[in-house]
Amino acid sequence: MVKLQEKTDHQNNLQLIGQMAATIAHEIRNPMTSINGFIELLKMNSTEENKKYLSIMKSELDRMEQILSEILHLSKPVERKYELISVANIANEIKEIMTPLADFHKIKIVLNIKNHSHSNILGNSTRIKQMLMNLVKNAIEEMDMGGTITITLKNVKNKVQITICDEGRGIAKEDIPNLFQPFYTTKAEGTGLGLQIVKSVVEEHEGNIYVKSIENVGTSFVIELPLTSESYQPSYKILIK
Ligand SMILES: Nc1ncnc2c1ncn2[C@@H]1O[C@H](COP(=O)(O)OP(=O)(O)OP(=O)(O)O)[C@@H](O)[C@H]1O
Ligand SMILES: [Mg+2]
Repeated sequence: MVKLQEKTDHQNNLQLIGQMAATIAHEIRNPMTSINGFIELLKMNSTEENKKYLSIMKSELDRMEQILSEILHLSKPVERKYELISVANIANEIKEIMTPLADFHKIKIVLNIKNHSHSNILGNSTRIKQMLMNLVKNAIEEMDMGGTITITLKNVKNKVQITICDEGRGIAKEDIPNLFQPFYTTKAEGTGLGLQIVKSVVEEHEGNIYVKSIENVGTSFVIELPLTSESYQPSYKILIK
């Protein structure tokens, strides 16, 4: 009983923080729009050197805008359409989308589909794509010298298990608890919100996420999502976060 109450308080707190974050993010956007306008105006009568500085200001503003839209996306209650989707098809699509970036870094993406009859889940394909893209992007960013990223799909009992395994730098044991903290990043250009998005998508789909890592060997993110039974014929479900 006490535990249940604690959980509800925690959820209420999270909701409150989310609402505050959304209000702040929204209010910060207005002055940003006017700063953006003045940058454009100044550019017209500037020397080449000043134009360079104004471009840097503009790209920093763009980055702020990107962070704000991610915060808004994380904290806004949204309605999402849930349909019967094939994780295998989505993984294939992600492999195709991410291959040009991987090629550029001399990295190979391999899709390995094991012992599965089907990989259908009740889910939102846009969100599942977003989840996989963030994980593959992180994997690419941790591999400097080429190598292979393996996406493995395997059915384990009534779940589809998706493993994204890289041959990157790995994560020190003491840093693992930080991974799912908002804004935790070790990258100069990172927002530290990628894994927050991944975690939200996993939670929305009532799944689990695990991470295994060995420094200088590589990292695996393992996600398990509930499979639908093969005969399942859903209409659709709307989830309100
Ligand atoms: N596959 C991985 N191997 C090693 N470290 C990782 C891996 N994935 C994530 N990390 C670590 O976790 C941190 C947080 O990842 P996250 O995706 O949330 O943010 P980011 O990649 O830094 O920034 P963004 O996703 O906004 O570009 C990374 O900066 C990195 O230190
Ligand atoms: Mg990332």
